[in-house]
Amino acid sequence: MSLRLGDKVPDFTQESTEGPIHLYDWMGDGWAVLFSHPADFTPVCTTELGMVAALKPEFDKRGVKVVGLSVDPVDSHKKWSEDIAETQGSTLNFPLLADADRKVAQLYDMIHPSADTTATVRSVFIIDPKKTLRLTLTYPAPTGRNFDELLRVIDSLQLTDNEKVATPANWKDGDEVVILPSISNEDADKLFPKGYKELKPYLRMTPQPNK
Ligand code: BEZ
Repeated sequence: MSLRLGDKVPDFTQESTEGPIHLYDWMGDGWAVLFSHPADFTPVCTTELGMVAALKPEFDKRGVKVVGLSVDPVDSHKKWSEDIAETQGSTLNFPLLADADRKVAQLYDMIHPSADTTATVRSVFIIDPKKTLRLTLTYPAPTGRNFDELLRVIDSLQLTDNEKVATPANWKDGDEVVILPSISNEDADKLFPKGYKELKPYLRMTPQPNK
């Protein structure tokens, strides 16, 4: 069965470019992004891995570890990483799971046989420190992902876990947020000292509280 938001993600041990990874131990008390690629030496994946390597300081700042997955062995990943460094201007600085036996791909339902019987689709899983699944994305093979969007979602999750707010369409860190409809105006007056605009009883905008 596929994983759903709120589920505890399955643990695994698998080989990677940085040695065996035991997911729960490797995550420790932090967040993780696990994302899969159809195969090594493919053009879109080469650009994606270069982009994640360039964005690694942004994931680090948010306490998020990143791990990629491709269903090829470690020696192939290592050869491919030379191409990534040469063409993308950034060196692989996070582990890439070598899921040649498809153990993790099957556990996380990353192979969608009607799309491709053997290659993984472009899956993304954002996992919180309790090992709870907080976001899934599934992109088709020809479409590279927008990794800035993952950072934006992480900012939203980390904010809304701590404040009684949600984030509106196209929100980015620092923009106005919405007050949860479950919060009364009386409580909102106390919780949001910067004030809020009531556009509708269920739509109240307030400056981002932790800024
Ligand atoms: C890829 O780079 O993974 C890819 C490119 C075109 C079609 C499908 C996959």
